[in-house]
Amino acid sequence: MSDVRLFEPLPVRDVTLPNRVGVSPMCMYSATDGRASDYHLVHLGRFALGGAGLVIAEATAVAPEGRISHGDLGLWDDSQTEALRPVVEFLHRQGSVAGVQLAHAGRKGSARVAWEGGRPLTQEDAAHGEPPWPVVGPSAIAAGPGWQTPVEMSVEQIAASVEDWRAAARRAVEAGFDVVELHGAHGYLLHAFWSPVSNRREDAYGGSAEARMRYPLEVAAAVREAIGEGRPLLYRVSAVDGMAGGLRLEDTAEFCRRLREAGVDVIDTSSGGIVTDRAIDTRVRRGYAFHTPLSGPLREATGMTVATVGLVVDPHQAEAILQHGDADLVLLGRTMLDDPNWAHHARAELLPGDWSAWPSQSGYAVAARASAMARLAADGEDPLTRYRR
Ligand SMILES: Cc1cc2nc3c(=O)[nH]c(=O)nc-3n(C[C@H](O)[C@H](O)[C@H](O)COP(=O)(O)O)c2cc1C
Repeated sequence: MSDVRLFEPLPVRDVTLPNRVGVSPMCMYSATDGRASDYHLVHLGRFALGGAGLVIAEATAVAPEGRISHGDLGLWDDSQTEALRPVVEFLHRQGSVAGVQLAHAGRKGSARVAWEGGRPLTQEDAAHGEPPWPVVGPSAIAAGPGWQTPVEMSVEQIAASVEDWRAAARRAVEAGFDVVELHGAHGYLLHAFWSPVSNRREDAYGGSAEARMRYPLEVAAAVREAIGEGRPLLYRVSAVDGMAGGLRLEDTAEFCRRLREAGVDVIDTSSGGIVTDRAIDTRVRRGYAFHTPLSGPLREATGMTVATVGLVVDPHQAEAILQHGDADLVLLGRTMLDDPNWAHHARAELLPGDWSAWPSQSGYAVAARASAMARLAADGEDPLTRYRR
């Protein structure tokens, strides 16, 4: 028996992740009317071929006005369910657990795609077929200079929005997803309600911490109902707002306990994003494994299953995170974009000679290549031996 934790299964409710390597949700802004295409099949499929135990599809809007950009995925319409189904089936055929991150962008919606700067859409964009749309939030406070002032949601709109999340979660189940994550971070709608920076209401949905957490807790409970008892529910938090008057880690720990009561199983630890004003520096320092100083204490304080994310780049680093108890599950974003086979490479590094997790179509060949290279190395050859003078 190996004591490598990264390749131990992780059971949560009725689902068992085959290992503790997950792909973090990453917007590709490449959907049409919220529908996935062959782009999403190939993009997400290569992580499953690459051995990730859990693949979480990007922020997927529960309502059209809840998109970040025109290119976001959505699950507000049955045609979107159908478009995602082949993606999920492919992930399953490769042995990965399929997750989707449900999201509502709130006051940070109606923006350009990230590689065009992610700025708010304007009438100029309308001329190129990408008109801005009115955004909503807990209070009529813009996320930053140049961003739209959101329409303050009425209690009726809040109730309708909870139903949007419920319906999207049902569609996620119909599409075949095993796991649902709620995007409660980065200043989007759930986070905007919970944070005192963006929620200045004085009704049942704002004022006290209890009232600020009400909408996210209602959403979590509705989604739990919609996905049934067997499927894991993850919640991505911004564990700290990183600014005066914002959420602190101890607030988040209490919030997580309440989320657990509402049916959440796993806390996915991120941070920041509550404002877009570049003059306010809210970012935690982007060192290696930059969210482990938050995920470890959250795991300790709540006893919940916790995921960490942020500049995890090396198999030994990922393994050390688990061994130290800073997380139960390691999510990778940009590292996976760089190397979709990261999980297989990590296995070869931590469990030398173990090619068993590769897909049969390619695993035997990759193993033969490794043996050939090992023989050549033993003979003192390297790839440049023939070409050196
Ligand atoms: C291209 C890209 C798109 C992203 N989209 C999302 C998203 O849809 N939802 C989300 O919660 N985080 C999103 N993020 C944040 C990542 O999930 C991740 O938390 C962050 O990149 C830090 O992890 P990394 O250092 O492994 O990339 C995105 C990041 C990138 C690079």
